[in-house]
Parts: sequence; C-alpha cells; structure tokens
Amino acid sequence: MTTTNDVAITELTQHADQTVRIRGWLHRSRSSGKVAFVVVRDGTGVCQCVLEKTDRTAELFDRLRRLPQESSLTATGTVRLDERAPGGVELVVAEAEVIHEAEPYPITPKAHGVDFLMRHRHLWLRSKRQHVILRVRHTLIDEMRSFLNRNGFTLIDTPIFAPAIGEAASTLFEVDYFGDPVYLAQTGQLYLEAAAMSFGKVYCFGPTFRAEKSKTRRHLTEFWMLEPEIAYADLEAVMAVAEDLVCALVARVLEDHRADLDELGRDVGPLERVQKPFERITYSQAADVLHSDETQQVLQRDLADKQAGAEQLAADVDRMESQRTQPGVKKYKAEQLAQQIAAAREEHADLVEEIGNLPQHMALARGFEWGSDLGGSDETIISRRHDQPTFVTHYPKQAKAFYMYVNREDPRVVNNFDLLAPEGYGEIIGGSQREDDYETLVERIEAEQLPREPYEWYLDLRRYGSVPHGGFGLGLERTLAWICGLKHVRETIPFPRLLGRVYP
Ligand code: 4AD
Ligand code: MG
Repeated sequence: MTTTNDVAITELTQHADQTVRIRGWLHRSRSSGKVAFVVVRDGTGVCQCVLEKTDRTAELFDRLRRLPQESSLTATGTVRLDERAPGGVELVVAEAEVIHEAEPYPITPKAHGVDFLMRHRHLWLRSKRQHVILRVRHTLIDEMRSFLNRNGFTLIDTPIFAPAIGEAASTLFEVDYFGDPVYLAQTGQLYLEAAAMSFGKVYCFGPTFRAEKSKTRRHLTEFWMLEPEIAYADLEAVMAVAEDLVCALVARVLEDHRADLDELGRDVGPLERVQKPFERITYSQAADVLHSDETQQVLQRDLADKQAGAEQLAADVDRMESQRTQPGVKKYKAEQLAQQIAAAREEHADLVEEIGNLPQHMALARGFEWGSDLGGSDETIISRRHDQPTFVTHYPKQAKAFYMYVNREDPRVVNNFDLLAPEGYGEIIGGSQREDDYETLVERIEAEQLPREPYEWYLDLRRYGSVPHGGFGLGLERTLAWICGLKHVRETIPFPRLLGRVYP
C-alpha cells in the first residue's frame, strides 16, 4: 500500500472513508467465526478494528484473534463512521502488522488487589482509569502554570538539596552531600522569598520530599507542590490568590474533562458549586466546631449510615456471588460479576475500616486541645460542613512553621491559613504571611531551637528592604484526588512513593 497515512485515533473522525494506519496496543479482542473485533488503543483513544475472514485474510484473521492483550500492532484500513462504535468510528482492516507479540499480560479484566496493581504500576498506567487520572493531572499542571503566568508571576526554580529545615524537623530526608548532611527539599518557599524581593511575584513547581512515617490516604513521601510567593502582600492578599487559583483549576477541569470525570464516576455537582467566596473560619472557631455536640451527632449519624452501607454491600456480594455461580451463567457475565464483586468487597473493606476508626475520630474531636495542629480526621469534619472549600486561619504559632508572621494583636497565633477542600478531603493548600521583622524572626528561630547559621541568608531578606509578603503551597496530588473524587493519593502520581513503597 503506497498512500497510507499514520493517524492518531482521536483524529480518525476527520478521515472518514480514507485509508489510514493506526499504531498502538491491543486492548481486547473478540471474534465470531467470520469477523474479528480488535480494540486498539494508541494513547489518544481506542478504536475498534474490524476484520472479516476471507480467503485473502484468513491467516491474518487467525493471528489477530489469538493475539494476546497488550501486543503492539499497526493496522491499516478504511475509516468508517459508526455511531455504535466506541469513539464513533471503526477501522475496516485491510492489513495489520504485529510489532511485538506480548507474553500473557498480568493485568487482566478480572479484578486485582491494590498491592498487585501497585507492583505493576509500570503496566497499570495503560489502564483506562489510570490514563484518565493522569490526563487530568496534566491539565491541572497546565492550568496552574498558565494561571500564574497570566497573573504576572515569574517561574523561579528552587533547589532540591537544602542545607536547612524548610518546614519541620520530623519529616526530613537526609542526604550525604560530600560528607556534609543536607536535606531533600520540603519546600521551595524560603528561596522564593528571596526571589520575590527581586521579581515581586514568583512561583516554583517541583517535587517535594517529606519523610512521612504514617500510611494515610493523603500522604506521599514525594509529591509535587506549586508555590506562589508575593511581595507587598498580607494574609488577605495571599488568600485571594489561592481562592482565584482553585476556582480556575476546577473550572478548567470541568471544561476539558467532563467525559473523563464521568468515566471516573465523579459527581460533578459539588465541583460546579465551587465559587468565590470560600468559607472562612479561624482555628479557634474550628476548635469550637470540633468540641460541639453537633459534631458528635454528625459522626454518630455517619457511623449508622456506614454500618447500613456495609450491611447492604455484604448482601449485594452474596446476591452477586450466587448469580455468578449459577449453572449455565455466560462466561462474560460471570467475569463481569466477579469484577463487581471484587469492587463491592473493596468498598466494604473500606467501610469496615472507617467504621472502626470513627469512635477514635469522635474522641479526637471531643478532646481536641487548643494549640495542636488539626489532624486528618479533624480536617474531614471541618471540610465537609460546606460546599465551598474552607479557609482555616490563625493557627497557634506552636502548631506551625517558624517563618509565619506573628499576629500583632494576638501573638499566640500566626497569620496563616490552610485551605480545606470540601467533601471531607481536607487540606490541599497551606500558606501564610511571612515574618518580615528581623528581631521577631530571630526569636522564632531560637524558640524552635533551629541553628541560626544556615538561616543567615534568610535573615538578610529582613535586613535589606524587608516588606510584608506571603505565599502558599498547593499540593498537586491532593488537589487532583479531590477533583477526581479519588479516595487515595496513590493513583494521582505516575510512580507513587509511599512509606514502604519505592518499586517500580
Ligand atoms: O502545608 P505545607 O507543609 O506548606 C508548605 O510547605 C509551605 N512552605 C508552602 C508555602 O507556603 N509556600 O504543604 C503544602 C501542601 C499541603 O497543603 C498539601 O496539599 C501538600 O502540600 N502536602 C502533601 N501532599 C502529599 N503528601 C504529603 N506528604 C504532603 N505534605 C504536604
Ligand atoms: Mg500544611
């Protein structure tokens, strides 16, 4: 064939009735005696390829119908628009070339446990759901950058090797730097503050490292953080930027990824309700909420709902199990049921775990002490009270990092905020006005028992033209988990690093 063009699957509809070639991987196939349907994916979409068995195609027909999942191949044929086909288009195959015949593929349509999938993350990335999540990630990154670029921010790349603590001593990864200890960056913020005094409005976006020693749905040891920093800004000004940014991110994903969110089963209603102004409460008000009877009642109701949900799921599993094992049930039906059963079991296990944790969450809320940081379950309680994201401001200074601006009216607290995503997702942004007074900052460094020497350059910023300034850090993975409606951050990054997991 001489006039073959290579075409991406998403572009096929523009080539109706033309002869084109697609290049991809075999997603799945089925065949009758006469026709083979081979679904090929190429990273841009999936296309059903149809091959009729004739004398001329008999050999190819046999090869294709036996070709294992994820074999790579090219297929040449005529593009036929067909509303019933996935993507609205089919390829009527004239020729195909197998590039590589795969070994039996470990990830099959039957259900796999999370641990298995995580160990096969390098292959799991090819699955529809993972593909969709990472595409939304791509869009979020694009919108984060464009939002700041269109608002006059300059990108400043900050170092990964850091000689001093950026956030907290408890989560440092130490590296041997030619005999001296340095740390993997916990934040780019301190360096951004220097750059803000040169450029005014700056940001960095990069990998961030925290030796988080607990397994939670919200913690990675390596994650990506967007950090804007603004000169001549107080807490209010910084919060306004955070609010606009989050609105822009949600709007962009809703605009570009409706079908993907649908594929993920994400109810877009709550995302559509995300609008300025966000909710605002102070830390002290949040503590009152945690202590309230209302909170105990809400959690009590939760417990009852979750128990009812778990019972329902257990009954569903029994029902589906008996359908699956009925004599004469079709193979595809049995496989479909097996998948649904596995999903229901997983959901059931999650619920049982949540039910087990609830009494502790209730006790933690009731016994919350003014002065400590909000825990994950506390954030969940606060962040599900409203449709909007919630700003929690003015934390006690001992609960937060040394660089935060001490509130001059109430020196027990700092001018900071955490932004909690709604629907119980919790903190996605942490930010603050920075301490800009030399003496006060020195006191804070001493009070935290930090060594002074590595911060001399940082103190210089308070010696030469110090101005009110501030910024924040937005965690990409947590934001993505919220927007996609995912339970765990582990699916939001191509190769997650978690406690006890650095393979592949
Ligand atoms: O609240 P954090 O620790 O703030 C800072 O690092 C500041 N220096 C940022 C700044 O003001 N420039 O972290 C900011 C965000 C959190 O709100 C959360 O979204 C994310 O980073 N984050 C994590 N995400 C995943 N896994 C972890 N272990 C995370 N720790 C923080
Ligand atoms: Mg924080």
